Amino acid sequence: MSTSPESIDDLNLHAAEVHRPTIAERTEQSLQYNFPTHLKGSMKGKHYFIRTYGCQMNEADSEMMAGMLGEMGYAPAEEVEQADFILFNTCAVRENAESKVWGEIGRLKPLKVRNPEMIVALSGCMAQEEPVRQLVAKTYPHVDIVLGTHNIHQLPELIQTARDAQETVFEVWERAGDAIVENIPRVRADGVKAWVNIQYGCNKFCTYCIVPYTRGRERSRTLDEVVKEVEGLAAEGYKEITLLGQNVNDYGLDLRNCDFADLLTAVNNVPGIERVRFITSNPWNFSDRIIEAIASGDKICKHIHLPVQSGSNEMLRRMNRGYTREFYLELVEKIKRRIPDITLTTDLIVGFPGETEEMFQDTLDLVRTVQYDSAYTFIYSPRKGTPAMKYTDQVSDEVKKERLSRLMQVSEQFTLKAMQCYTGTIQTVLVEGESKTKSEVLQARTDSNKVVHFSGPKSSIGKLAQVKILQAGTWTLKAELCPTEVLS
Ligand code: SAH
Ligand code: SF4
Ligand code: F3S
Repeated sequence: MSTSPESIDDLNLHAAEVHRPTIAERTEQSLQYNFPTHLKGSMKGKHYFIRTYGCQMNEADSEMMAGMLGEMGYAPAEEVEQADFILFNTCAVRENAESKVWGEIGRLKPLKVRNPEMIVALSGCMAQEEPVRQLVAKTYPHVDIVLGTHNIHQLPELIQTARDAQETVFEVWERAGDAIVENIPRVRADGVKAWVNIQYGCNKFCTYCIVPYTRGRERSRTLDEVVKEVEGLAAEGYKEITLLGQNVNDYGLDLRNCDFADLLTAVNNVPGIERVRFITSNPWNFSDRIIEAIASGDKICKHIHLPVQSGSNEMLRRMNRGYTREFYLELVEKIKRRIPDITLTTDLIVGFPGETEEMFQDTLDLVRTVQYDSAYTFIYSPRKGTPAMKYTDQVSDEVKKERLSRLMQVSEQFTLKAMQCYTGTIQTVLVEGESKTKSEVLQARTDSNKVVHFSGPKSSIGKLAQVKILQAGTWTLKAELCPTEVLS
């Protein structure tokens, strides 16, 4: 039986009682997307601009929306000012993510006055929030379309509707449809690395987190669909794939006869793919089978992003994380024993309600124990409708900021230390393209996900190369190409 809240509106009824829903077996149905033929090329000559916030799920969704816009005839615009269709694919995970969006939407008003034909759309996790929809209706009526996370496949029709509508068109399902929509056309942002969704939604209900309400319950794509997509990517020349889900190690719990370990092994064996990454894995349910599949898969990068959030058992309990500090540390040990060259990174939250200095010290201590290669550190941001927002012992902004800065100091020491270990070593890197700042410098990545800069021929882009690391900074490694040149 599951009494988990399904939408933000249901939440108040359930906030007092937090637990994880049991997972119902889903019918493995999927729906093959068919682009509406009458809209094909209907926007020829027009341009779109997409601004994506938040996590890789949103980036993947943006690629699909770009794909549908392309089918409609839209071409990408370089600047917002040149676009006829502007899409904000939003994130609701922290308050500052939301404030940025409102600022940008507000700034579009004069553009819209100059070009009334322009269509503005808001999609992503903010669209799932009822108060956001109310605010759009009241304060930002120049937003033409509000599109939910379960509705992206409806974008072409909604654009058509919005062209003739006088008011904002809202299309937001509170929960996902029964079937996963497959085969949506896609314009991928990169030619070397590709995102591959394996699972949608989240069942974990961490008490601070909005994601289970904005993305719905966990749903896995079938193993066949995922492998088919990866084979297609390999045929197109992609070298690296990242499997995406909020809790990838739960993959398959809603299917029959397969789990994340099976999936890892299956994609590891797709010819042409050189590297397989995955995010995010939750410490909960990180099985021995998964550890074994990572260890034995030669294409699987030896990097695990393993968010811990806090080093205090009391905080972990109140966060509803489902593990203790001891369990987490044991898991880390187990992983390190089986995969000695593993790289671990994490997410940490400071200033969760009730966090005392002592509890915060537990987090610092855990960071010193694990010595992560890097940590994403966040100030707790109360999210409307989540249980933790109602906790009465909120920590002051001043204390939160001060703790964040201390935590970053400690964590960055280990980041630099980890980087320095690379100096003088030979690394196999995947060359991704030109570096962001200098076109004559190439950017590549190690198996452990470290950014490497080196000078080399542009023909090495998309290939594996061997480099010698010359110098380490906190975020990048400087290297030179080995005389053996490009490998494959
Ligand atoms: N599913 C992933 C995380 C997705 S959200 C996991 O659990 O591992 C990414 C990160 O944002 C989380 O790991 C957490 O550290 C942070 N986060 C989520 N909600 C937050 C909030 N309300 N305030 C601050 N940080 C938050
Ligand atoms: Fe949010 Fe991740 Fe927890 Fe899910 S597992 S509720 S996405 S932090
Ligand atoms: Fe943000 Fe939604 Fe991702 S809240 S982090 S875009 S799942």
